[in-house]
Amino acid sequence: MTSSAMPTPDAAVTSGASASWPEVNLHVVSGKGGTGKTTVAAALALELARHGRRTLLVEVEGRQGIAQLFDTPPLPYEERKVAVAPGGGEVYALAIDAQDALLDYLESFYNLRRAGSALRRMGAVDFVTTIAPGLRDVLLTGKAIEVVRRKEKHASDAYDAVILDAPPTGRITKFLNVNSEMSGLAKAGPIHKHADLVMSVIASPQTAVHIVTLLEEMPVQETIDGIADLRDNSLPVGGVIVNMTRPPVLTDRELAMAAKGTLPPAAIRSSLERAGLAAHENEILPALMREASDHSQRVALERREMTRIEELGLPTAVLPLLADGVDLGGLYELAELLGEAGLR
Ligand SMILES: Nc1ncnc2c1ncn2[C@@H]1O[C@H](COP(=O)(O)OP(=O)(O)O)[C@@H](O)[C@H]1O
Ligand SMILES: [Mg+2]
Repeated sequence: MTSSAMPTPDAAVTSGASASWPEVNLHVVSGKGGTGKTTVAAALALELARHGRRTLLVEVEGRQGIAQLFDTPPLPYEERKVAVAPGGGEVYALAIDAQDALLDYLESFYNLRRAGSALRRMGAVDFVTTIAPGLRDVLLTGKAIEVVRRKEKHASDAYDAVILDAPPTGRITKFLNVNSEMSGLAKAGPIHKHADLVMSVIASPQTAVHIVTLLEEMPVQETIDGIADLRDNSLPVGGVIVNMTRPPVLTDRELAMAAKGTLPPAAIRSSLERAGLAAHENEILPALMREASDHSQRVALERREMTRIEELGLPTAVLPLLADGVDLGGLYELAELLGEAGLR
């Protein structure tokens, strides 16, 4: 990735479409595993920071993906600055751990940190967060919401936006729907009230849930199902990010010919000659024809999947597969594309 992809501060302030969600304080990024949730969450945080926002990138899966991406040591349960964008906005990161979140909760609601430490030594914290997955989720989302709510309290450690690198599509509704998760566990009392408070932020226009997908059948189907599920549960759907796309290497006309096996052999032969491969023409020519046909099928499939995504009628960003992998320069490139699509 070239550093020329990094925008100048002036360009950063003036470039890009207007934001799709100016009112959103909590961006939740989900998607099928491996589609690029962590990468997109980080790029979104950078894009918001590029526009001068103070952002917090939150991880809840304990994978330390954010630390790896920003090339910093593993994140503690503590907000750490990981980048300053051109434009002056800062990106902080936090890895939320259910056990630490429980101790945090005990301290802020009951002033019980010391008791909490004793509970941890006894293994009770481990026990509680393991036996009650619903409780685990409400602790994780609860911590994220605590950070989001600092803004309305005008706290000095508030953020303009919190970006949550969330669990995959298959689990996202359950993860966010802490109220129904908790209903069997705590019908009344402080945990129930806490869950209500968490829900009042998550199910409000302050939140947007974005889904990352690839242009393949399975992740697109998961995206469609996931969005239906979020809507059924009245959770606020944001946009779709189509990640790791590759441009077709043939023109539409060539693709059509490749699909029918009618690419002109003479043209391919002369290309092979120019490449000094004329001697191997008999082996290479049929293989190339097959590859062109495969390519045309892949492009056709991707176009069908793209149509299905467009039919969702949601703000959509299309991000390229970065040939050199995702480094900081690459992240800025993706960030800018998110901004141009209005996805910020
Ligand atoms: N646009 C992209 N171009 C190239 N590689 C990408 C892109 N997006 C993600 N990746 C790579 O794909 C892998 C999975 O991405 P990651 O963000 O960790 O996905 P997830 O969080 O959904 O599991 C990582 O190795 C990441 O660097
Ligand atoms: Mg990840």
